[in-house]
Amino acid sequence: MRDIGKLKEEAIRALRGAADAEALEGVRVKYLGRKGELTGLLRALKDLPVAERKRIGPAANVLRRELESLVDSKKAELGGNEGNRVHLDVTKPGEKLRRGHLHPLTRIDKDIRDIFRSMNFSVVEGPEVETAYYNFDALNIPPDHPARDMWDTLWLQSNQKNSKFEIRNSKFLNKSQQLLLRTHTSPVQVRYMETHEPPFQIVVPGRVFRYEATDASHEINFYQLEGLMVGEDVSLANFKFVVEEFFRKLFGKGLEFRFRPGYFPFVEPGLEVDIKLTRDQRQTTNDSRQSSVVSRQSDWLEVMGAGMVHRNVFDAVHYNPDAVHGFAFGMGIDRLAMIKYKVPDIRLFYNGDLRFIRQF
Ligand code: DAH
Repeated sequence: MRDIGKLKEEAIRALRGAADAEALEGVRVKYLGRKGELTGLLRALKDLPVAERKRIGPAANVLRRELESLVDSKKAELGGNEGNRVHLDVTKPGEKLRRGHLHPLTRIDKDIRDIFRSMNFSVVEGPEVETAYYNFDALNIPPDHPARDMWDTLWLQSNQKNSKFEIRNSKFLNKSQQLLLRTHTSPVQVRYMETHEPPFQIVVPGRVFRYEATDASHEINFYQLEGLMVGEDVSLANFKFVVEEFFRKLFGKGLEFRFRPGYFPFVEPGLEVDIKLTRDQRQTTNDSRQSSVVSRQSDWLEVMGAGMVHRNVFDAVHYNPDAVHGFAFGMGIDRLAMIKYKVPDIRLFYNGDLRFIRQF
């Protein structure tokens, strides 16, 4: 039988010297494990004469408890350092990083620009803060004319004397200088024509703003695409070709179109264009949270306003309305994205919910 005093001395030295959790566990097993030295000593007690057993037994049990608590405190001590230690497992497979991607509205905007560029249109942009002149007056919508009610406008408070906006050719100077958030991309027609001569063809993608209650198909801001082609003999036939070509490139062949008369102050004649969705494109209709955009009773869906540029608009930019003609059109990009990606609610594009965004 081993001398218990020596065993104690040796065990305690080994425990104190354990440098890490692994070494500590080795020491524990060596003395306290099932085949450990102290365990063996305790087990051998029963073979000793009674007097011996009474002498060694209690001391051995005290030692066991002492060693156990030493192991515990040493473990806590080493464990405390553990958190600060860097574990580097060079064999571990790498973690996949989640890569970002384009927002669906950005994607369709790119697609649309590409399609029009392929038809030799230039892409032009204009300011989101506009003057009443460009947003209304120059587009044949005079101050106080009821046609202004067609656009629920967010007006801005502005110090008119400091206005950076230069107004050309306005009959209503004060009112025309009023700042607003543009309600459509049509003002860029005027801005472009002021600085360019026909013939040309442009599209104008951009953000527009409306003062209105939101629902599944209405937002206070959304995106539009304006189109304008002006030349000596531009006609509605050209318009029809360009527009049908565009929609077929965006949505695929086999689309049907309907051209209806419609009123917009800056065109004459004015029209509205409907497309007939295929069964697949109408699928969103079955969604219980269906939006009014794609859940009409009829299969026809209104997608744009258009027409031949009104002569008053040409007058405003000093073109000769008898010498040049042009067509213009405007459409909502969000609506096209809702059809293309089967999105039932326009608000999903703007609420920043990643569960939505990650589906694209
Ligand atoms: N600007 C119109 C709107 O926001 C859309 C529009 C209609 C644009 C007819 C046009 C057009 O260029 O010719 O409702």
